[in-house]
Amino acid sequence: MKDSYGRKIEYVRISVTDRCNLRCIYCMPEHGVTWRPREEMLTYEEIVRLTGILAAMGVKKVRLTGGEPLVRPKLHRLVGALKAVPGIDQVMLTTNGLLLKEMLPKLMEAGLDGVNISLDTTDADQYAFLTRSSPKTLQTVLEAVDAALSYPQLTVKINCMPMRGINEENLRDLADKAKDRPLAVRFIEMMPLGQGCGFEPVPEDEVKQKLGISGTMSEKTGESAGGPCVYYRPEGFRGKIGFISAVSHKFCSGCNRVRLTGEGFLKTCLQSSAGVDLKAILRGGQSPEEVDIKLKSAIEAAIAKKPKEHHFGAKETEETAETRKMFQIGG
Ligand code: 5AD
Ligand code: SF4
Repeated sequence: MKDSYGRKIEYVRISVTDRCNLRCIYCMPEHGVTWRPREEMLTYEEIVRLTGILAAMGVKKVRLTGGEPLVRPKLHRLVGALKAVPGIDQVMLTTNGLLLKEMLPKLMEAGLDGVNISLDTTDADQYAFLTRSSPKTLQTVLEAVDAALSYPQLTVKINCMPMRGINEENLRDLADKAKDRPLAVRFIEMMPLGQGCGFEPVPEDEVKQKLGISGTMSEKTGESAGGPCVYYRPEGFRGKIGFISAVSHKFCSGCNRVRLTGEGFLKTCLQSSAGVDLKAILRGGQSPEEVDIKLKSAIEAAIAKKPKEHHFGAKETEETAETRKMFQIGG
């Protein structure tokens, strides 16, 4: 289906939990995070039902996020059930990688199509500082990347946020991970949301300069496929390097997505509170047929009101200001 600006909505990002086994400094405070009670979160059955309705309206692609999605028990069961929804042709996962290696066989059996692994640095001490974990943790994530690459049918990407004064000198090393492997390393501009507000992003052009990416040295690939990422293939690279810059290179006009929070709120824009509480309808106590009709019309109404664009950097009005945290939205 299309929104009022003619944008085709084909992609849903679903946060399955707000919990996480890391505490990245730009995402969560060290102490005192309060998790939403489990009964407030959608069950797998509810997620599958909502995805069925979205798929009937034209959604083809699902990405599971968190928090850390793999801390939710038996996530492969959800992957398998979503793959079986008519109309859904891709199910992907965004993860910090800590539990990925051990879960991969089951996830692959369930039909997982792609995995994005969050990795901001290849320096063990820097990684430990950024994620408030131990320097040994990096090795676990690197092994997860290798394990993911051992499945040729799986699309594997690394997501890195370049931050001033933190990992900016490590970016080249991270990019080199894509040199001789079919891997995409993507540099994502930090968005001023929640804890992220305290960090200065390194601008895309500066990252490109550090990596020696320019029009003449590298081939710009045509593979953004409706997504916000612009890819380059530096000379001699088997993999590719991507840039997602939501603030400095705004891509709202091509936005193809909605987001479902763990608590069942359908968000139509990352930065805005706009959307609809689908859980309230799901658990509203009416007959399944009535609920389906209500869900469909609520989703249609919400998508019709999908905001034109984000206003990062502008003074927010009370109506649009999002108070949810990144780990409740799922990025
Ligand atoms: N801006 C952009 N990306 C963010 N992430 C976390 N906080 C922000 C932010 N403020 C990213 C993490 C991870 C993904 C789940 O979301 O780096 O890759
Ligand atoms: Fe966890 Fe991801 Fe947040 Fe880090 S950025 S604390 S891995 S949810």
